[in-house]
Amino acid sequence: MTRELSPVETAKAAAGRRSVDFIEDGMRVGLGTGSTAAFMVRALGERVRKEGLNITGVPTSSQTAELARQEGIRVVALDEAKWLDLTIDGADEFDGDLNLIKGGGGALLQEKIVATASDRMIVIADLAKEVACLGAFPLPIEVVPFGWKTTKLLVEEALDPLDVLGREVTLRMSGDRAFITDNGNHILDLHLGRIADARQLGHMLNQIPGVVENGLFIDICDMVVIGHGDGRVEVRDYSTGDVEKGRIDFPEPDNIFTDIGG
Ligand code: 5RP
Repeated sequence: MTRELSPVETAKAAAGRRSVDFIEDGMRVGLGTGSTAAFMVRALGERVRKEGLNITGVPTSSQTAELARQEGIRVVALDEAKWLDLTIDGADEFDGDLNLIKGGGGALLQEKIVATASDRMIVIADLAKEVACLGAFPLPIEVVPFGWKTTKLLVEEALDPLDVLGREVTLRMSGDRAFITDNGNHILDLHLGRIADARQLGHMLNQIPGVVENGLFIDICDMVVIGHGDGRVEVRDYSTGDVEKGRIDFPEPDNIFTDIGG
């Protein structure tokens, strides 16, 4: 079924589509998770089919693995690829230093492992994800199920002296059960409002037994592709300082971006 994309979907689709221009033949590519990353995977699938692009994809979640296979992208585990040329992924927030909050989709652990194992990371996002200070989006942390309530208490205690606006910590739910990640863990969402020192918070959270990883991506990302609701895209390359503006023209009807679950 084909339908019109909303402005937010258009922004995500534009960012996803522009980002695959940075993928070259023979690359090993980390494939992110979420609705923006899904547009990227579909656009990459189109390049694989039309251009015969020979790439190897390493998905960051079971959901992305399934979509990539459907799109005809060769998929391997990170242990097989070992190191990647590039990872492209979405974000829940990004700031002026290109530090990110990720994990809204619950895939932050594999996303961080894959992005860290890549020469470059490109984040793809709609304009609304850009913030002056990280923290309005609740910060996800992945915790092991064993003793998670104690881990939650330790997290709350650790937040006490920090410069944040809020300190509520909630267990992510899926219906009436705790959400389970692809790694069999739970997610705690930290409602902080504003994070004055994201680097310090990231280090501190990872010291707590039971915390597997946090959703702060500090100094991992090199480039952002920002999509707008009218199809405009802006590419900011932080390694060179270059900024490029353009527009994505979507064919009518847009067969790539059908079946987006809406
Ligand atoms: C999943 C993520 C996503 O990249 C993030 O939640 C953004 O999702 P979307 O593109 O659907 O807005 O970190 O764990």
